[in-house]
Amino acid sequence: MESFFIQHPLFRQISQLVTEQNKEAYIIGGYVRDYFLKRQSKDIDIVVLGDGIQLAKKLAEQLPGSDFAYFKNFGTAMVKTADYEIEFVGARKESYNHHSRKPKVEPGTLDDDLLRRDFTINALAINLSAGHFGELLDPFNGLHDLHNKIIRTPGNPEITYSDDPLRMMRAIRFATQLNFIIEEQSLLAIKTEKERIGIVSKERITDELNKIILSPKPSVGFKLLFDTGLLALIFPELNKLYGVENVNGKSHKDNFYHTLEVLDNISEHTDNLWLRWAALLHDIAKPATKRYDVEQGWTFHGHEDKGSRMVPHIFRQLKLPLNEKMKYVQKLVLLHLRPIVLAKETVTDSAVRRLLFEAGDDIDDLMMLCQADITTKNEYKKIRYRNNFNLVKTKLKEVEEKDRIRNWQPPVTGELIMKTFGISPGKNVGIIKDFVRESILDGHIGNNYEEAYQLMLRKGHELGLHPC
Ligand code: CTP
Repeated sequence: MESFFIQHPLFRQISQLVTEQNKEAYIIGGYVRDYFLKRQSKDIDIVVLGDGIQLAKKLAEQLPGSDFAYFKNFGTAMVKTADYEIEFVGARKESYNHHSRKPKVEPGTLDDDLLRRDFTINALAINLSAGHFGELLDPFNGLHDLHNKIIRTPGNPEITYSDDPLRMMRAIRFATQLNFIIEEQSLLAIKTEKERIGIVSKERITDELNKIILSPKPSVGFKLLFDTGLLALIFPELNKLYGVENVNGKSHKDNFYHTLEVLDNISEHTDNLWLRWAALLHDIAKPATKRYDVEQGWTFHGHEDKGSRMVPHIFRQLKLPLNEKMKYVQKLVLLHLRPIVLAKETVTDSAVRRLLFEAGDDIDDLMMLCQADITTKNEYKKIRYRNNFNLVKTKLKEVEEKDRIRNWQPPVTGELIMKTFGISPGKNVGIIKDFVRESILDGHIGNNYEEAYQLMLRKGHELGLHPC
């Protein structure tokens, strides 16, 4: 079996040390799984029967330039090389306390160790011991599940999930990343044990959410989160998008499935996590702004504005960064209707200029979001939107080339206004500055210093100010 695995000399080297120290050791977990999935992995986990720290220390001595660290209390050690992070840990048995994900740990056999793991695909072990080098141990048929694309727990799924409820998120995340199916008993167990997610930290939940969002087709994960009832617990605002209401035979579209379609659409074009978050949140305020009007039917007026204002609360709840990433998501949520509204009307230069000014460097991302938002099944409408949309794109390019508005600062600054009229900071400075900027954006005057200066003088005059 040796030939099919572990060509890397590092494993021979570890094996030699294992023999010298009269121990048993196995490569385990994600590295083995990823090897069979033909995915490159940097993290190698090695389970040792006996003292893993000694083994790691010796290895580090033989690898010049490597880092070595150990944690005596946990019996674990880490060797870091330029290419790999190798973690050594003693085989263990675990027993869980109901209120915590942190188990009580005792030394155990390899079988104990594999049984305590989350999924059969993560419970494969490769022997590094002399005489058995490269042999695969697969007590739970993990290889079969890998080939058949199945997520299954090695032990009773209710116990596996209840012991460590983060595994519910991991199951859904692996299913989404790898396009696997969660086996039926497991799925049922997640539904039964969902409330246990309450003992998991927000950071860890969000970490898994981000991995779902970064998967090739994130909707798979969100549908599973919704169907199992987890979504309502971890992300209630998104859960609320689900459902269709009907009044007098008129219904609106289901905003949950629409949002997922937009997220999948955008994921085909970008790996930018925050742009994908913007897609997930673009309609988040639709439930809060929904109204039925006898003449207009269903409306969601102001959902872009309210949605943008909901973003900080959601980011805080989910422990996402409250920095420029959040501001970027807020901005895209706020502006997400603008290009399409523009596309539905006659596309004037001034509207395009204004959009460019407000979106700045994020204009391309905004356009991508907007394009992903076209999910109508009506072919006629789709073609019309796309055509108008392309017109906006062309116009954007033209106006940008002509006026350079993208990172634009109006030619008349507050400083200049104060100096010209000999005034101190105050209301009038703002009035003049805004007026000049708006006049340029509206195309009433050209985007140049001379015209802006003249307009400043005129507006000042109107306000009773005189140049000094
Ligand atoms: N594991 C587990 N339960 C968890 C987390 C991890 O049983 N909640 C086990 C699994 O056997 C897993 C191994 O510990 O393969 C290593 O975990 P980790 O490095 O977190 O994840 P990987 O499986 O390597 O995958 P990824 O890096 O994609 O998270």
